[in-house]
Amino acid sequence: MSGVAFVTGCILAGSLLVNAQDGPSWASLPMNVAPSLSDDFDAFNYVTVPMFFGTPPQEVNVTVDVAAGLLAAYALDCVLCSGNSFFDQTLSTTYESLNTTWDKSTATFSGYEVNDTVLVAGNLQVSDKEFVLINNGADQTMSARVQNGHLGLLLDPFNSTASTEHLFSRLHQAGQLLNPVVGMRFDPVNPRLTIGALDPNDYEGTINWVQVESPDSSWDFWNTFKIDGLKGYNGSFIPQGDNLIAGLDSLYIGVSIPNTYTYTSNEGYSGPIGTPATSPYQTLSYQCNETTPYIPLIATINGVDYQIDSKDNLLRPLAPVAPIMGYCNIGIYNRSDTALPNVALGLPFLRSVYVAYRFPTDNCPGYYGFAFPAGANRTQAQISQTPTSKPTNSAQCLSLTAPTSTPSSSVVTAQESLQSHGKYVVYGRPQASEVPLMGVDDFPKIVWNSTDLE
Ligand SMILES: *[C@@H]1O[C@H](CO)[C@@H](O)[C@H](O)[C@H]1NC(C)=O
Ligand SMILES: *[C@@H]1O[C@H](CO)[C@@H](O)[C@H](O)[C@H]1NC(C)=O
Ligand SMILES: *[C@@H]1O[C@H](CO)[C@@H](O)[C@H](O)[C@H]1NC(C)=O
Ligand SMILES: *[C@@H]1O[C@H](CO)[C@@H](O)[C@H](O)[C@H]1NC(C)=O
Ligand SMILES: *[C@@H]1O[C@H](CO)[C@@H](O)[C@H](O)[C@H]1NC(C)=O
Ligand SMILES: *[C@@H]1O[C@H](CO)[C@@H](O)[C@H](O)[C@H]1NC(C)=O
Ligand SMILES: *[C@@H]1O[C@H](CO)[C@@H](O)[C@H](O)[C@H]1NC(C)=O
Ligand SMILES: *[C@@H]1O[C@H](CO)[C@@H](O)[C@H](O)[C@H]1NC(C)=O
Ligand SMILES: *[C@@H]1O[C@H](CO)[C@@H](O)[C@H](O)[C@H]1NC(C)=O
Repeated sequence: MSGVAFVTGCILAGSLLVNAQDGPSWASLPMNVAPSLSDDFDAFNYVTVPMFFGTPPQEVNVTVDVAAGLLAAYALDCVLCSGNSFFDQTLSTTYESLNTTWDKSTATFSGYEVNDTVLVAGNLQVSDKEFVLINNGADQTMSARVQNGHLGLLLDPFNSTASTEHLFSRLHQAGQLLNPVVGMRFDPVNPRLTIGALDPNDYEGTINWVQVESPDSSWDFWNTFKIDGLKGYNGSFIPQGDNLIAGLDSLYIGVSIPNTYTYTSNEGYSGPIGTPATSPYQTLSYQCNETTPYIPLIATINGVDYQIDSKDNLLRPLAPVAPIMGYCNIGIYNRSDTALPNVALGLPFLRSVYVAYRFPTDNCPGYYGFAFPAGANRTQAQISQTPTSKPTNSAQCLSLTAPTSTPSSSVVTAQESLQSHGKYVVYGRPQASEVPLMGVDDFPKIVWNSTDLE
């Protein structure tokens, strides 16, 4: 070794740069949403986002569910799974089956527990992440609503093990996230999911935080919060009882309220839209064209009015399935289920607001924060509304670090993940033509120590 020492280390140009970025970061992912909500049987109204499973990472557009915590991917060899991007475990070198049947399996929807690497984007990655590999997706209700896989955003309030193992908890525990928060835009204008920070470009107005409460596991929703009420056309609260509690649901295409009759029978609430027809499925319909009538409905949360959009949301397209030709269904349903909560805020609401979820960590409960999606049809008067109160523990739990770095994006990741993070000079090519190389990061790393030669 005359004068030259070989030391194991890293390829300076490549890995040191990556290590420098290894601190807390955040990601901004494009979500896929339907341009408009439709009651057509074959319409897929729900929201998917790209996640990457295995090594090398495989892109799967998992379906986003705000009301549950399950992480699942549909297996490539799944029987009757719906969707178009599945996970092929035979191609992953880090895949491990835990050989345990998923405990929520049914005869028509089942799978088993597995461990593999799950990559969100950029450096946001968790190895040995437990998830469910679905291999039987025959259940028609499930297959209509969940395609490719399932990304449950909620940390389970009744199972601390599940909550600690949640993808977000794992990223947070590993110090990878700038903040324990996600931001969501479900609107067709710019649908996004941010993880680790709220992007100031995504919303307008003050973030209106309310605590997520999960009083009882027998409730239909585990992500409930108090609302002031629902308002109609003339801006007055629709009398629906006191102490209303609402839950968010991204797998539900309506808004269900305690009694639709109060709304439909008073023009003060429903506006001058005439008398509804009711289909055999209890769906309300109004005489319509693409843009009229305007269906007025406002959810008021902690003193702030959130308009629920009519076009492409509450007002459905004039579809062949409407019960009467020339009528359009609307997405307001009677919540005949007497179990709490009183109000289910589904996609028409989610597509009309900006939602943040500050997920629970050791000393903080969970919170939802609401604001207005930037670029939406909102007046300055709406945007400048201020919340009535601030949650206790705001200073401790809701002081978020604003992002300064650019977010990791999954679109870039898709190509980068298979390639090296840096660029390299290749023997025989001009110095200037540096190229990214596939698999470089997997080679044993050495550094040429030429100190002795200087
Ligand atoms: C995920 O969905 C997007 C938008 O529909 C599409 O461009 C992309 O190819 C999908 N990914 C896969 C792996 O199918
Ligand atoms: C699961 O079963 C396979 C095949 O029998 C085995 O190779 C693997 O080690 C098992 N995994 C665990 C976690 O027991
Ligand atoms: C699966 O992942 C969990 C969580 O990281 C870990 O505790 C467990 O040992 C892993 N199991 C196997 C078989 O790799
Ligand atoms: C809690 O979650 C863990 C991990 O997902 C699971 O193994 C366990 O069965 C769950 N416990 C209950 C009581 O559901
Ligand atoms: C709105 O309409 C309802 C029902 O018709 C009525 O009771 C209420 O007083 C009206 N509010 C206003 C501000 O006009
Ligand atoms: C829809 O109907 C309204 C009221 O009848 C009318 O003013 C409007 O021009 C119609 N729009 C279209 C696109 O037909
Ligand atoms: C809505 O559901 C409630 C509770 O089951 C019931 O009392 C009410 O009559 C229903 N209203 C309509 C319009 O179906
Ligand atoms: C914008 O909102 C107003 C109500 O504030 C409504 O009348 C109008 O139709 C909406 N426009 C669009 C394009 O949705
Ligand atoms: C290179 O070698 C010199 C002399 O042996 C040593 O002092 C130095 O620490 C080495 N550099 C690195 C980066 O290991």
